[in-house]
Amino acid sequence: MKKIDEAIWRPFTQHLTVHPALKVKRGKGVMLELEDGRELIDAISSWMVNLHGHSHPKIAEAIYQQALKLEHVIFAGFSHDPAEELVEKLKPLLPKHLKKYFFSDNGSTSVEVALKMAYQYFWNKGEERKLFVALEGGYHGDTLGATAVSQHFSKPFSNLLFKVLRAPFPETFWGDQEVEKNEAEAIDAFRNIFAERGEEIAAVIIEPLMQGVSGMKQCRPQFLEAIEKIAHQYGSLVIFDEVLTGFGRTGTFLALEQTKCRPDFVCLSKGITGGFLPLALTVTTDAVFDSFLSKEVFKAFLHGHSYTANPLGCAAALASIELLEHKPYEAVGKKMKEEASTLLDHPLVEKARGLGTIFAFDLKSDENVYGSTVGQRFTELVEKEGVLIRPFGNKVYLMPPYCISNKEIHRLFQALQHGLASLLNQVG
Ligand SMILES: Cc1ncc(COP(=O)(O)O)c(C=O)c1O
Repeated sequence: MKKIDEAIWRPFTQHLTVHPALKVKRGKGVMLELEDGRELIDAISSWMVNLHGHSHPKIAEAIYQQALKLEHVIFAGFSHDPAEELVEKLKPLLPKHLKKYFFSDNGSTSVEVALKMAYQYFWNKGEERKLFVALEGGYHGDTLGATAVSQHFSKPFSNLLFKVLRAPFPETFWGDQEVEKNEAEAIDAFRNIFAERGEEIAAVIIEPLMQGVSGMKQCRPQFLEAIEKIAHQYGSLVIFDEVLTGFGRTGTFLALEQTKCRPDFVCLSKGITGGFLPLALTVTTDAVFDSFLSKEVFKAFLHGHSYTANPLGCAAALASIELLEHKPYEAVGKKMKEEASTLLDHPLVEKARGLGTIFAFDLKSDENVYGSTVGQRFTELVEKEGVLIRPFGNKVYLMPPYCISNKEIHRLFQALQHGLASLLNQVG
């Protein structure tokens, strides 16, 4: 077998201790075919981006046809059909008060754009609001602004980052008896932050209903509604980062549909192209947009990326959204919930939770027995069952593409069952 190229520096990888990367030859539907001949079900949609299965012919064809017409063009001063058609397609699917669409390339940049727009919105009006509020455990990406509001992977950069106030996130799960108490405490803490510094806060950023990288930690809609109300009372803007939750993941097109919230920004990426090409959108209100209108050029939003609104990405997104029209995520979510019930009483399963096509649980982990490697060991056991997962520490999640069949969903849960049984054997 050909050796994996050692010149490649991989993302989120400690190269001193990592296992060699698995080489993928091709992907079809939910399956990944490895160079060593094995096949794995992609139960995490390849970092939560793939919606309709790998190498979907409709999206592949849309990209090919677009590439024959126009692969890319500068988007400042120029426009093209795929971008305009994509915005038209999204308008009826997004809340009506969100009227302006700004393109970028990935989840981090969609957040970066929202943070910069929120800050400049006040600056343009002659107000200085230097602070942002983020929720404990949140993750919003790797660019420096997104790192500042995130609570993961930020340690080496702490001296470089702008100030962010953290509010508690009232994590909940199925059968949680404490949820109301935890929520009330979190809302009080949020209110106190705003009572002290509300006039200085430009925006609050939130992963609605499900914090992804924190390990699919869930909260209830009523919590989001309460904190949004407080932020708006102080004139602060509200950013919903739907990079992970968007495009059906939580059972509705956007997670915000399950709330009464009216955020000032929504950030979209990951599933936007069905997992084919990098693309992102930051969608905002006329009020935000209008604050940038001025005869002074520096009041414009002087921000953009070379590949802004790449026509191939837009064509992929259009095809992907068409495939979402019959809401394939609804049936997947229903079957996953049904299968999940078989795991709930397992002695190693804690805090089972889920929404739509996302199911997660914590592996009961006694640091002394398992060490911090429990997630990695479980991954290897499940991989032997032909399923690819990638837990966050001891937090295991499933988030498969929507083309998955009921039989394949059953196989996923059987693989988890077998993995749990082997893990239980290991610890005696
Ligand atoms: C909620 C959320 N926001 C932003 C990002 C960053 O997206 P990207 O990795 O495309 O930059 C992620 C990535 O996992 C995410 O989960």
